Parts: sequence; C-alpha cells; structure tokens
Amino acid sequence: MAWHFRRVIAEQVARVLGLPSERVAHCIRTVPVHRKHESPDFQLFMTSLGDPIDTSINHEERAQQLAGKLVCDSVISDIGTARASVTFKINRDLLTRTVLQQISKDGSIYGLNTELFSGLSGRKTVVEYSSPNIAKKFHVGHLRSTIIGNFIANLKQAVGNEVIRINYLGDWGLQFGLLGAGFSKFGSEEELVVNPLQHLFEVYVKVNTAAEEDKDIKLSAQEFLRRLEGGDPHALSLWMHFRDLSIQEYAKVYKRLGAHFDDYSGESFYKEKSQEVLKQLESNGLLQKTDKGTGVVDLSEEGNLSSYSTVMRSDGTSLYITRDVAAALDRLERYSFDEMIYVTDKSQKNHFQQLFKILKILGKDQADRFQHVPFGLVKGMKTRRGEVVFLEDVLDEARSRMLQNMAASGTSKQLEDPSDTAEKIGIAALIVQDFKGQLLSDYHFDWDQALQSTGDTGVFLQYTHARLHSLQALWCSRDTDDIDIASLREPCVIATLQHLLRYDEVIYKCLEDLQPRYLVTYLMSLGHLANVAHRALHVKRSSSEAAHARLFFFNNVRMVLSSGMKLLGISPVNNM
Ligand code: ARG
Repeated sequence: MAWHFRRVIAEQVARVLGLPSERVAHCIRTVPVHRKHESPDFQLFMTSLGDPIDTSINHEERAQQLAGKLVCDSVISDIGTARASVTFKINRDLLTRTVLQQISKDGSIYGLNTELFSGLSGRKTVVEYSSPNIAKKFHVGHLRSTIIGNFIANLKQAVGNEVIRINYLGDWGLQFGLLGAGFSKFGSEEELVVNPLQHLFEVYVKVNTAAEEDKDIKLSAQEFLRRLEGGDPHALSLWMHFRDLSIQEYAKVYKRLGAHFDDYSGESFYKEKSQEVLKQLESNGLLQKTDKGTGVVDLSEEGNLSSYSTVMRSDGTSLYITRDVAAALDRLERYSFDEMIYVTDKSQKNHFQQLFKILKILGKDQADRFQHVPFGLVKGMKTRRGEVVFLEDVLDEARSRMLQNMAASGTSKQLEDPSDTAEKIGIAALIVQDFKGQLLSDYHFDWDQALQSTGDTGVFLQYTHARLHSLQALWCSRDTDDIDIASLREPCVIATLQHLLRYDEVIYKCLEDLQPRYLVTYLMSLGHLANVAHRALHVKRSSSEAAHARLFFFNNVRMVLSSGMKLLGISPVNNM
C-alpha cells in the first residue's frame, strides 16, 4: 500500500541525506496518473525537505544529486528526476499485488487508516449541520448544509475521530407565538398529523399574513410567546407537540438522504442558558446598554464600539447570537471537543465571526477550536411545486425524474425496486452536482445536467458501480494469494492501481480544506479508469486464471469506489 512504499523509499533517502526517515516519508507524494504515458508512482519534491545547507545549488540540481546517490532495489525499479523532484517507480508486479491485497484486506477502511492521518485522528469533533427552522421553509441552503455537514462528519469519523452530529433546530421564537395564537383558527389536528411540516408551514403563512392586518392577532402571538417563555404548561405542550411531530418528519427525510443526528438540541434548549450568558456578560462588565435599551458587546479593538454585537433586546430577551453563545459554552462543557464545526451558507459568516469573538472576550481560550464552513447559494432549483419549500419535494423530484429516465432507456424493468434505485441514483446526482465545485461558490442548478448518465455526474458514478458489481456474479471465491499477476500487466490496470494508491492523499486534502470536490474528482477519474479497463480486459473469454485475477482487480476497484461514494453520502446501487 501507499504507506509501505513511502516508507521503503524514505528509508533510503533518509540514509543518504541524514534525515529522520519518518519526516521524509511524509514528504513523499503519489504522482497523478497521466492519460497518455505511464507516469512514475511516487515523487519527492526537494522543496518539501526544507532549505538546503548549501544554498548555492538550486533544487533541480539537488534532485539530480540525490537521484544519483539512490539505487534501485527489489521494491524500487526506477529512479528519475522531474524538475525539482526525484521520481520513483515501484516494481510493477509488486505494486499490483500489494495494492490489491491491501484493499481486499482493509475493505471499507482502505486508505483511511494510514500514517498520513496520525495527527488528524483520535480527536473529538462536533459537527452542526442542517438546522432548519420549524414551520418555515426548508430551503436549498438547508439541503446544502445537510449534505455538506454529513460529508464532513463521515470524513472525520472515517479517519478515526469521535464525531457528534448536532441539528440545531430553529425551534423557538416568534413563529411559535404565531402558531400558538393561530392554530385554533387556521390549523387542523388531522392535517397536522398527516403532514406536519407542510401543515405547520401553511398555518404559519396564514397567521403571519393575518397578523399583518389584524393587530389583535399580533398581540396574541406576542402573548403566546410570553407564555411560552414563562413556562406556561399549556403553551409548552402545544409547542412540544409541533416540535415532536416535526422532528419525526425531518428524521424520515434525513434517512432518505443517509444523514442522521445524535442530538436535536435546538435554539429552545438554550433559552434559559442565554439568560445566564447575559448575566455573565453583565457581571464581567461586558454588556453595554444602548439608548434604545438594547444590550451590546463591544467587539472593537479600540473599545469604542466601532464594531459590536447586539445580544439583548430592550425587553431583556435574548437574540439568535445570544443563544449561539449559550450553545457554544454548553457544548464545550458537555463534549469537551477538540473541534466544533458549523455548516451554514455564507450569509452567516459575520454572525459566526462575532460569535467566536464573543467567546474570546469571555476568556474562552478554546475559541480557536470553533470553525465555520460557509457555502454559496444554489440558484434556480425548482420542483414541480415551484420554489423549494420542503426537502421532501427535492428528493421526490430527483426520484421521479430518474425513474422517468430509467423507463425511457428500458432499464427499470429488470429491477426489483425501481423506485428505490431511482432514489439512490437521484440523490447521488444531487450530491455530486453540489460537491463538484468550491463550496463557497454559488452555482446554478439544472436537473437535466445533474441527471445525465455520462459526464461527471452522480449517475455516472452509480452506473460504474453497478457495472463493476455485476461482474461479481462471475466471481468464485478463491485464495487471493495466488492471483495471476501476468494477467494484470496492461497499462490500463497499472494506471488504475496508481490511482488507487493516491486515495489516502485525496482524503487528506479533503480533511485539510473540508472540501468534497477533491474526492468527487478522484472518484470520477476512478470511474473512467475502471470503464477503460472494463472494455480492455476480458473476463468471460479468458482462462480461469486470468478471469480470476481480473475479477479480483475489478472487485477491489469497486470497493474503493463504493467507500468513497459512501463518504460523500451516496448509497451505491448494485443494479441499474
Ligand atoms: N436555523 C438557522 C437558519 O436556518 C441555521 C442555524 C445555524 N447554526 C447556528 N448555530 N446558528 O438560518
């Protein structure tokens, strides 16, 4: 496996340069696969080794000098240079055998348990994502937060961290005052039970409109909220009813998306705790009253309120940011995490900067463990019902469009559960479309583009996975030690193996930047390489030795494809 080869190379280099071999091993990189000609497998950039003692020679010369002192052995079959790096080629048959055996031994943890991650695992990570607001729209931003947060949580967990997944529901505030005041007039218990999210949203919209014209409704909404805040049991039980039904419904839709949460502590959970935060700020002399009676925290360096955050309304109640401060302090205590990651759209960038600043001002030296992962806007996502209001509609739309495509191409007939398959492919399409670019960039969503079966789409990944899986029907389990390496010497196999060798580096890159696009690009290339190999290597018309070796190869490719897809949040399909 990649790390084994890195170590062998590093030992020799370390001996020649008089450096610790561990450090050298961390500087060795795999080489991206070249379409036209065979590339070396590993590369060591002289710059990564630090500054030379003799600064009169340049890095290119250093690479040549180093290469001249290294020798080929039973592992390294060729040593060369490419600009300021030394390149290494591994003995071909050894490469093939080692990579394939490693994948079949490691299965779904292949590439995730290497020394590359030694500093990045064994930590405790809290990821907060999705966080919709009950009775309000579940817009595309919440969908993005859900799939991105799920990916980050999967990734952190995969390399050996303990991960806590939190959904910080918007389950408090004036919308509940309005619902409480208007439910008896506009709501129906029957409809609520049948479709809670939709019904609450409808009631909310109606009361909201009514309250704009009718002062009494507005007043009774405020009154209901006051009763809620005051702990009135009747008000609270209605609120709880709305909340419970909504969470049940959310959980169903998250399940379709392959996402789940350990904790649904939303804003309501922090209503009392945010009063404590206000007290704490006050007793530390950090809460300043304005002329309007609101409470602010000075965030400026100069102490002149040139930048500040409002944390208290004039009636003494807390705000969104106050509840976030309370939640942050509570989570620090409850989980004593190493890192806390918030996933929201970029419009909340400023909010989180203020939050982290307040934590610092409160003397929390763990403030640097908090991180915000912002993402851009999705434009033009529409469903049959129009603008996106419910997550469910997006998933239904993806499924029905995919079913239609499958019916048109005649593939759905042979499937046991076409609807389930269509759903998994449709969701893969949504995820890939979303993860292709930089998270921070806005993008335009297009159903037809996302659902294309060729090109860099989720459909293509699913298609490739299903095709590789269908080969398994030909597979008869045999000892994996006796693979006929001679049937695996084609350039398309070598290129695929080289690509498989890179998997851990790609995961590392994703972890470093918390960006899924490296993995998406990687899996697309793996899919293309696999398809080329599938066309070039015969299984059925080959000798049983060759067939066995090739099926073993394809199954290993499929395993890595599958494990990468799962990290992205995709459920790979076996037939389509
Ligand atoms: N409910 C919020 C919204 O829909 C997102 C919550 C983000 N997380 C947080 N800790 N503030 O905009």
